Amino acid sequence: MTGMDGLALATRGLRKSYGSQVALAGLDLSVPKGTVYGFLGPNGAGKTTTMRLLTGLIHPDSGSIELLGRPFGRRDRHRLFGVGALIESPAFYPFLSGRQNLRELAATGAPTAPGRIEELLDLTGLRDRAGDKVSTYSLGMKQRLGIAAALLSDPALLLLDEPANGLDPAGMVAMRETLRHLAANGKTVFVSSHLLGEMQQMADIVGIIAAGRLVREGPIQQLLNSEGTVRVRVAPDEVARATATLRTLGGQEGVMSTVAEPDWISVRVTSDRVGEVNRTLAEAGIWATGLESGNDLEMLFLGLTGGEPVQGGEGTFFGMAGAGPGRGPAGTGSGA
Ligand SMILES: Nc1ncnc2c1ncn2[C@@H]1O[C@H](COP(=O)(O)OP(=O)(O)OP(=O)(O)O)[C@@H](O)[C@H]1O
Ligand SMILES: [Mg+2]
Repeated sequence: MTGMDGLALATRGLRKSYGSQVALAGLDLSVPKGTVYGFLGPNGAGKTTTMRLLTGLIHPDSGSIELLGRPFGRRDRHRLFGVGALIESPAFYPFLSGRQNLRELAATGAPTAPGRIEELLDLTGLRDRAGDKVSTYSLGMKQRLGIAAALLSDPALLLLDEPANGLDPAGMVAMRETLRHLAANGKTVFVSSHLLGEMQQMADIVGIIAAGRLVREGPIQQLLNSEGTVRVRVAPDEVARATATLRTLGGQEGVMSTVAEPDWISVRVTSDRVGEVNRTLAEAGIWATGLESGNDLEMLFLGLTGGEPVQGGEGTFFGMAGAGPGRGPAGTGSGA
């Protein structure tokens, strides 16, 4: 692969199917060194599949992976020492304590500095419970232990699949600070989530995936500046007419609503055009009962992955990726 200088992780044309279910349809990721990269996508988008491919748990049908500047192939699991990972619910010995589990891992895995385990127990807030059996841990405590395990060898690249799962607010703040701190020290953190607010506070770069494809990738601030959404709520019997009217602003593809909130219409225009959206509706004799604008990630994400263009007002929407072959979410592949 070329043009990979400065990247801690890259994939090119990564494809993976499970039987007839396409999970990844040619994924190109570019993750610069020393950044927190937020890997975002709705349920079923392919995030965990990507993480499993990146750690050699499964193998791609085609495409390539480069980790820490070197190709990562079928036989390269043994050299994952520079990479720490937390994927799905981490497996621990339930009858051993948290501390004993980390010791087991340290004994069998990548080299671990002396004192590292105690340091990580402190970092993850587990010290008080470190001597208790893992079987007595709560979900969030297991997740904290999983993060500690991923950090054990002080990896240059950290792969975390939904690490916020089960964490309480304090746990999330701590995790966010930990990940920022790692990036500030030159480590690379590749972290998946569907918690967009979390990413907005933590990531330098985001990649948004839907139905196994990357739909956007870039510095978070750049994405937020160049894209936006205005959301407008109208009476249910006005949705069809409002949608048609708003297409004059948002275009055919840029106007949509979702199953969850069928009377909220999203218009893909930058947030400074909120007044224009309202006026356009008013000129058509439609009164908005709610109006929101923003270029926050939540809206961007909804616009990119949340649904399909409204079909004459009858169409309703769903929020999951990969519902079947040929069914891509709105926004896929359309340039900014
Ligand atoms: N073992 C499997 N067998 C069959 N299909 C699978 C398997 N694992 C994942 N899939 C399918 O592959 C697609 C991507 O799944 P994946 O778990 O990678 O999504 P995800 O982005 O991690 O979703 P979530 O946010 O729900 O964790 C989905 O359509 C899913 O149903
Ligand atoms: Mg997943």
